[in-house]
Order: sequence, then C-alpha cells, then structure tokens
Amino acid sequence: MIRTRFGNGITFGVSVLIVGWTIAATAATPADIERKIDALLARMTLEEKLGQMSQATTSGPLTDQRKEEIRKGRWGSLYGGGTAAQRAEAQQIALTQSRLGIPLIYGQDVIHGFHTTFPIPLGQAASWDPELVRQSARIAAREASGTGIHWTFSPMVDIARDPRWGRVAEGYGEDPYLASAMSAAMVRGYQGDSLDAPDSIAACAKHYVGYGAAEAGRDYNTTWIPENLLRDVYLKPFQAAKEAGIATYMSAFNSINGVPASGNEFTLRQVLRNEWKFDGFVVSDYTAVHELIAHGYAADARDAALKAIRAGVNMEMVSTDYWDNGKALVDAGQLDLKTIDEAVREILRVKFRLGLFDGRTLPGNVQGSNSEALAVAKQLATESLVLLKNEGALPLAKSVGKVAIVGFLADSPTDQNGAWVGEPIGTVTPLTAIRQALGESRVIYAPGLRGSGDTRRDGFAAAVEAARAADAVLLFLGEEASLSGEASSRAHLDLPGLQEDLAAEVAKVGKPCIAVILAGRPTTFHEVAANMRAVLYAWHPGAMGGPAIASVILGDAVPSGKLAITFPRTVGQVPIYYNHLNTGRPPSETGPAAGDKYRSKYLDVSFTPEYPFGYGLSYSKFDYSRARGSAPQVKLGGTLAFSAGVANTGNVEADEIVQFYTHQLAGSVARPVRELKGFQRIHLRPGEKRTVTFTLSTDDLAFYNSQMKLVTEPGAFEAWIAPDSVSGQEIDFAVVR
Ligand code: BGC
Repeated sequence: MIRTRFGNGITFGVSVLIVGWTIAATAATPADIERKIDALLARMTLEEKLGQMSQATTSGPLTDQRKEEIRKGRWGSLYGGGTAAQRAEAQQIALTQSRLGIPLIYGQDVIHGFHTTFPIPLGQAASWDPELVRQSARIAAREASGTGIHWTFSPMVDIARDPRWGRVAEGYGEDPYLASAMSAAMVRGYQGDSLDAPDSIAACAKHYVGYGAAEAGRDYNTTWIPENLLRDVYLKPFQAAKEAGIATYMSAFNSINGVPASGNEFTLRQVLRNEWKFDGFVVSDYTAVHELIAHGYAADARDAALKAIRAGVNMEMVSTDYWDNGKALVDAGQLDLKTIDEAVREILRVKFRLGLFDGRTLPGNVQGSNSEALAVAKQLATESLVLLKNEGALPLAKSVGKVAIVGFLADSPTDQNGAWVGEPIGTVTPLTAIRQALGESRVIYAPGLRGSGDTRRDGFAAAVEAARAADAVLLFLGEEASLSGEASSRAHLDLPGLQEDLAAEVAKVGKPCIAVILAGRPTTFHEVAANMRAVLYAWHPGAMGGPAIASVILGDAVPSGKLAITFPRTVGQVPIYYNHLNTGRPPSETGPAAGDKYRSKYLDVSFTPEYPFGYGLSYSKFDYSRARGSAPQVKLGGTLAFSAGVANTGNVEADEIVQFYTHQLAGSVARPVRELKGFQRIHLRPGEKRTVTFTLSTDDLAFYNSQMKLVTEPGAFEAWIAPDSVSGQEIDFAVVR
C-alpha cells in the first residue's frame, strides 16, 4: 500500500524510549494491566475515549493539524504510509504531549512480507508448510516493527470457494482445516513469544466474517451463510487465530444473512466475545461503520455508530461516525458509558500488551531483507509452486542448448510480488534468475505482449522467432498483480488478453513448451495446457520467485506444492470445492448415453474440476498403500490412529504432502463427501518408504447440528490417506457410544 521507502542504511537508533506513563516498565501481569486501565479510564474524558476508538489513515509527513489532533487525543491509532521517523515523531507527541500520554497503535497492511516479499497467501497455502509460513510472518514482523509499525492487518483467513473473487489471493484457500493451520502459524509468527518484544507486532484476523462468500465472487457483495456452515467452515480459521492468541480482529465489509458484519451482534458479541472469550479489540474495515448506511442497516451516521459500537466494533477505521456522534448518543441515553468504557478497555489492553505505554524500543535491524529472510522467501516460493502437468519436459536438462523465454510476466517484478506489497526490495525475476543459471547467451527473451491489456500482436513475431531458435520454450503467462486483491474480481477466469493466442502461435513452432503461470487465483487454461508439455503454477511468488522458479525448472529443486483451492475447468462450474455434499443424485461419469441422465451435473462440461484440491505433481513418484486403522471402531471421546505406507518409487529425493480425509456416511445433517483432517509434508529418498500416521480424535469429527450444537454423532465413517482430495482407497471405521 505505502509507496515510501525506508531503509538503505538509515538506522533508527535504539529509539523512542519515552516514558509517558509513570508506572515502571516491568512485565505487567494481567491484573496489573486491568488496574492501569481502570486508572486511565477514570481520568479520561468522553472525547478522549472516542479518540481511542478512532483510527485515521495517513500518508506523507505529519501535518501540523495532525500533530495537534494527536496532542488532543483525537486518534487512538494511525495506519498507512509514512516513514519510521514520522511514526516515531507521532508516537512521541502522543506519549509526551497528550494529556494522559496514551500511545498510538500504528497499523499497516503487512500481508505477505514487508521488505522481503513472500508468495501471496494463496501460494503460501499451497506449501502446506505452516512452520515455514510462521517463519515468513516472523521475518515480516521483524522488518515492519523496525520501522515503528506495531500492528498488521493480517492474516486474512477468509475461506473462499470462488476464484472470481480477487481477494482469494490474500487468503489460504477453500479448506477450513488447512486455513486454520496457516492462520495459527501467521499469528505465532507475527506475535512471536510475547507481544511486547520489540520485534513482535499484533496480528489482526480479517475479515470477520464471511467476506469470502461474496455472491458471484463480486467484491463486497452480500453473503448468505447458514449458521452451521458459518461455524463449520467460515469461522474455523478465525477461531484458530483466537486459540493462537491473536490480539485483534477486523470486522468485514459484507453483510451476513442481511446483517452487516460490522454491525453484527451475533458474530461479534455472541461468538467472538461470549463463546470464544476474546478480550482484544475489533477494528472495522475501511469506512465499514459508515457503510452500514449504504447497506440499509443504519438510518444515518449516528445510527451507524450506535449499531457498530453496540455490536462490539471497538475502533472505527477512517470514517468518523464514532467521533461525530458518540457524545450525542451518550447524552441522549442511547449508549451507556459502560459500553464505551468496555470498548476502550479492550483497545488499551492491547496497547499495554504490546508494551506501548513503556515506549517500545525498535529492534536493531531496519535495513531491509537479509540473507536469512531471502532464503526463507526462496524456500517458501519453491514449496508453493504446483506442478500441474508434466510429460517429462521438466526438469529441463542443464545441457539444454538455448531456451526461449516468452511472456511479459517473466520479467515484471511488481507483478510477481502480487497484491498488497509493503516496501519491497530485492525482487529477482525468473528471467534474471534463468539468465544467471544458464548464461545470457543461452536465453532468448521475447515478451510477446506488453501486458494483458495489450491488443497489438506486433510482439508475436519475435516470440515465434525466439521459439524457432530455441530447444525449449518457457511461456510465462497469467495475471498482473492488479488483477487480484481488493476490488479486483473477474467474471472470467481465463488467461486475460491475447495470451492464449500468443501461446498458440508459439506452440505451433513445435518446440517443447512449458507454461509457467503467475496468477493471484485459479485460472482456466485448458486449451493452453493441451499444447504444453508441462505446466507449473507459480501464483505471485514474491521477491525470490525468480530463483525459486529457475531452480525447479532446472531440477535443482523438486516441486512439492499442492493446491489449496480447486481449479475449475470453466468459470461456469464455480463454486466448485472438494468438501461439498453428495446430493441425492450424485454425478457419475456415465452420462445420458448410458441412460443416466437425471444426475447432478452439466450437459456441456464434466462435473469434475480441472485440478482438484490437494493436487500437485512431483519429479518423483509416490506410491501409497491403503490406510489402516488401529481399530475398526472407536468410542466417543476416544482416538484412532490411521497409517499408510508412502514410498518414493521415483528417481529423485522429494517432499510429498500426505493428506488425511474422513467422511461420515450419515448424520443428522449431511456431511461433506470428504473433509481434510490432517496433513504431513514428508521427505523421502528414492526407494525410501515411510509409514505415515494420523491420530484422529472423535472430537475432530464434530460438526454443528441443526440445533447449532457441536456434536460428534456415532455412525459409519470412511478415511483416506491420499495424495489429494479425490484419490486413494477408503478404509471404513465406526464411531460408537
Ligand atoms: C481492506 C482491508 C485492509 C484495509 C486497510 C480495506 O480496504 O479491505 O483488508 O486491511 O483496507 O488498508
């Protein structure tokens, strides 16, 4: 979001050690913190309280007006651009010149890295490697905190089953189990061992909740989510964030069943506070409080403030309905001071937990990426690459003569970093990395098009020429960064512009063609893939995407990523996701010709996806034995172990992501055909075989019944240990009383 750059040798000393709060800086117990909050609340005016509940966005230098506002306690938080020095100055004013010395909490969209850009979250999810994802968030926290940022609006843990939605790039895909693992990993990475460590930042799980279910994939659109689906699917990764100790949540733009998420007492009070016992604070999304009016849920700004505060949105981002109307609401007796005090208490609590009152020191390193960070970025990018097709074309032999690199995405640092970058440095494109690996003289580059909006074909000839002169062709196709992320939904999922034509022209030359697709979402490219000997899906892989792609293409690394979201054959199949219900007339491959017309399917396209959830190829080959359970049945409350042998029967050592799924055959509410219950990334040498074991507790099989009770129902089940969500042989087991 921000465009300013800080770093390059400017170190910001050991910092802002300003003590605006007179209580000593020793580690405070929770009881101490509550006492300090009581003391503060007793001294705060209503205006100062409403100030704490207000967040402004900033960019550029602090104006005199903004400085004066900070002195007066007008803002509890600032977010957005600015430099470390500006942030420090604002904080110094808050701590030393405002009446009560209450610090600001400085927020920022640190989404997939700050100086070091990691793959977009959807790519990170394809690594199925929460530990590496945690490390990336740790690095992002260190880099961001070094510039005075205390808080990131991340992770985005919205489950999304619709690739048209541009923000699918920012989340961890369609599955609640995998997304929960990533959610917890991100929180642990950002927040570290202790929130008040100089290099920890507060995380914010967003967008609470249901935002990813936007109708028709159109951003900000309405959602209709039955409560059991909300609880079984959409809330899960948010709950995982809570369990990992998350400091804040962001209330979403969308409405859920007619009630906007930013004024929703059910999700914000009932679920978040009463059921989960969350005691940090909730910030609204950008102007989401004021948008309650456009939603048709609030009559005016005053009504919007009332409804959002009552629902439990502690802090209003950017719009000023709280500030403008809070006093009138209290004076009129519509809002009691207790509600305001509770809202402010939760904000102050997070500020205390972050150590902001004690004048946090900045961590030492504000220089930007370092070699450790870049190594993690490269590893994560490598693990996120998903090999979708390979007819022996990959890896390219290093002895390959000349390689043609076609496509503007081979050399576009901004696009490879994807949506929502911080202050990126050190991006290495695939073109640069492949040139480095093979030597300039063996690489012929022809962008073919200037971008996906390019309607001219004048670059095709050079691309065809490059293919003719080469022994192999690498076609870089896909989407620019601007085609995914916020307000970037697409109604079509194909490779935009003339890219398919370019690919067809180049393929006609007859040289072995390999497509590398960079995109922020699943795209559809059936025809293109048919002409390719291999397809590698690279998402927007971040700063080290170039070296990661080069190492996989040249066989220095083996692809291991698996899809965290289903790839449709055509946009017409959307929504399509693996953990669907069976219907009363499940589809079959036989079709009308076999007298099998009345089935849940299409006349004009298969009902199966192009590539299923969990799918991804390797340069090696893995054989799975059928899963075995430690017993044929388990009593409610007990556990069962499931094991399968996984053997590397190929020629190279490689990682495999082993997945564990279950299915309940009959329940009081029908259960999905498969649900992910575990996964392990294992490393096997050629010829090596490992027994992979998953322990299942009957609690893992629980779901919300029609009375909205979380229950495990005894009955018959199936389990799979499999390489993806559609293969493997099931084993039966039963849960008994
Ligand atoms: C987005 C959020 C983001 C916020 C602050 C909003 O428009 O929906 O994800 O954190 O802006 O930049």
